[in-house]
Amino acid sequence: MAAYAANRAPTSTRRSTVLMGDPILTSKITAPDVPAWAVQRPRITGRIAEGTRWCPLTVVTGPAGAGKTMAVAMWAAAEADRVAWVCLDEFDNRPGAFWSYVVAALRRSGIAVPKTLQAIPQEPAGVDGFLLGLTALLAAQDLPLTLVLDDLHLLTEPGTLKGLDFMLRNAGSGLRVVVTSRMDPLLPLHRYRVAGQLTEIRADDLAFSAAEASLLLAQHGSTLTADSLESLTQRTEGWAAGLRLAAMSLGAHPDPGQFIKELLTEDSALICYLVDEVLNVQPPEVREVLLSTSILEHVSADGAVELTGDGHAAGVLASLARTNAFVQPLAPGWYRYHNLFAEMLRLKLRLEHPERVAVLHQRAARWHQRDGRLADAVRHAAKAADWPLAAAMVVDELAIGELAERGAGHPLAAEFAAMPADRAWAEPAPYLV
Ligand SMILES: Nc1ncnc2c1ncn2[C@@H]1O[C@H](COP(=O)(O)OP(=O)(O)OP(=O)(O)O)[C@@H](O)[C@H]1O
Ligand SMILES: [Mg+2]
Repeated sequence: MAAYAANRAPTSTRRSTVLMGDPILTSKITAPDVPAWAVQRPRITGRIAEGTRWCPLTVVTGPAGAGKTMAVAMWAAAEADRVAWVCLDEFDNRPGAFWSYVVAALRRSGIAVPKTLQAIPQEPAGVDGFLLGLTALLAAQDLPLTLVLDDLHLLTEPGTLKGLDFMLRNAGSGLRVVVTSRMDPLLPLHRYRVAGQLTEIRADDLAFSAAEASLLLAQHGSTLTADSLESLTQRTEGWAAGLRLAAMSLGAHPDPGQFIKELLTEDSALICYLVDEVLNVQPPEVREVLLSTSILEHVSADGAVELTGDGHAAGVLASLARTNAFVQPLAPGWYRYHNLFAEMLRLKLRLEHPERVAVLHQRAARWHQRDGRLADAVRHAAKAADWPLAAAMVVDELAIGELAERGAGHPLAAEFAAMPADRAWAEPAPYLV
């Protein structure tokens, strides 16, 4: 932290400075402190350091609580070169606000931005005098400066993003940008990628290994057996916030092994975090798709439409997979939910709509049956406690099996085999009755 603290401006200038009439909040241009309990992760800080050495743009993406900000704060704390930090929020979508904070952060990190460069655009604008001036100033720096933009997913105003891209492309080696974002930022990443000018650190990279999780637990005075540690890392999929919340509760728990088995309970800190940060920020129709599909192990666009009865559900899933790393694409049209996220959704479904659980399982059973996944179909019928449905599915399947064996020579066999699955399910094989 020492190098980072040295970059801080003297206290007098750390109070609010006014640009374009908007007060600047110091908290938004200050890198967060790295707490003593934070686990050092050299494999990640090393990649950020490497990225900022060679690439104009380093992008750290992952879901809420993946450890993006912490990773970049740790790198910034150890960084000898100048670092300017801007923590974004939804109000920074006004170009005037965004650029005011960038200028304030640059000044704070030691760049002498002249007063004449305060003509910050108030409206979405193209390349104007302000942007040209700022870019030229950065391009002329002998020592490179790194601008960290924390939570860039909140910046959606096209003019501002265009301006940022312009500055990044033209400031040369004078400027490096590191962004954290819950989804791919709306910058032309493909262009940077293909030019070898982009470093990407994603959710998989940020995931804690079992060894890192063990260090995190140790910081909270807990140790686990190798099996329990493995199970905790697997269930959380190395999700930083999940591990830390578990570590905080684990210390007080008399039976750590049991605690990990039960990790998610109605009132656990983990559930509250996931509900507040991930579920409740979704619009009602997205929330509905998530809750309804949570009973599936793997979710497909078709399945989502089937379970919700909403033709838009497929689009909702595709958009979630782009914007929310708790929903991960598996194959075209297929998705999986992060383990803990899925568990939270199922728990919420049971609590909010207990009467819907069996109905959803029945729908899932019929959908799987129609698509020929008998084992899944029967499993869902059983979960719905709909034994007649489960039994009928098994009997139908046996009948079709028999058809294959006994009826191969029957004149109707070829016709029956060629039937679409839904008809074949509905109609008994003609020579088995
Ligand atoms: N290296 C670490 N050591 C210990 N705990 C960590 C570490 N990294 C992350 N955490 C835990 O995970 C929490 C979330 O981390 P962080 O705030 O960096 O997530 P984020 O990905 O930036 O989330 P958001 O998208 O909400 O901004 C931290 O508050 C901390 O409890
Ligand atoms: Mg963050």
